[in-house]
Amino acid sequence: MDEELRTLSWDQAVELGSPYPYVLAVTLDDKGKPNVIGLGWWTFASWEPPQVAIAVGRERYSHRCLEHCGEFVLCFPSAEQEEAAWFCGRKSGRNHDKFAETGLEAVPAHVVGPPLIEGSTVAYECRVVDRMEGGDHTLFLADVLAIHGTPEKSRHLYSIHYRKLVSLDHRDFLPRE
Ligand SMILES: Cc1cc2nc3c(=O)[nH]c(=O)nc-3n(C[C@H](O)[C@H](O)[C@H](O)COP(=O)(O)O)c2cc1C
Repeated sequence: MDEELRTLSWDQAVELGSPYPYVLAVTLDDKGKPNVIGLGWWTFASWEPPQVAIAVGRERYSHRCLEHCGEFVLCFPSAEQEEAAWFCGRKSGRNHDKFAETGLEAVPAHVVGPPLIEGSTVAYECRVVDRMEGGDHTLFLADVLAIHGTPEKSRHLYSIHYRKLVSLDHRDFLPRE
């Protein structure tokens, strides 16, 4: 009986569907200062051409940055960056310089304006090509223009609801060579 499907709240459903890959999107504000936001709501959106989409709350500072610069870098933070990555999901760039306060290191991207985060497992350079308004978030669809990575830092982060981050390495689940 206990194992039958039953009605859940939105909150319970989000928790039950965990973990979600947790990423950091780097943008530039209107003064050219880089800002970082933690995101669980992102997805691959096309294989050819490669595209991703991110859902960003309209009240986020990053929303304003995206409207202004139209580009972002989507970084998978490595396990070592957990504390900094969590900070970026809890504090706003309106009143924090997240690079300075976390010690995350910004390195120039090859194609887009916002920088890459050194030590990311994977970093996608993205340019927004379309957007769609959801209830309280905007879905930004973007072309992936360049990809970088640090394969030896393959242990990266997943979120359990909005409560905590855990780290997994995909190699732990592959047969040994
Ligand atoms: C685990 C986790 C996942 C999150 N996912 C999203 C998301 O997908 N979209 C979003 O707009 N905010 C998300 N947030 C909240 C933002 O990261 C947070 O509000 C941040 O402080 C916004 O920063 P900003 O004001 O500098 O843009 C998430 C936070 C956490 C902790």
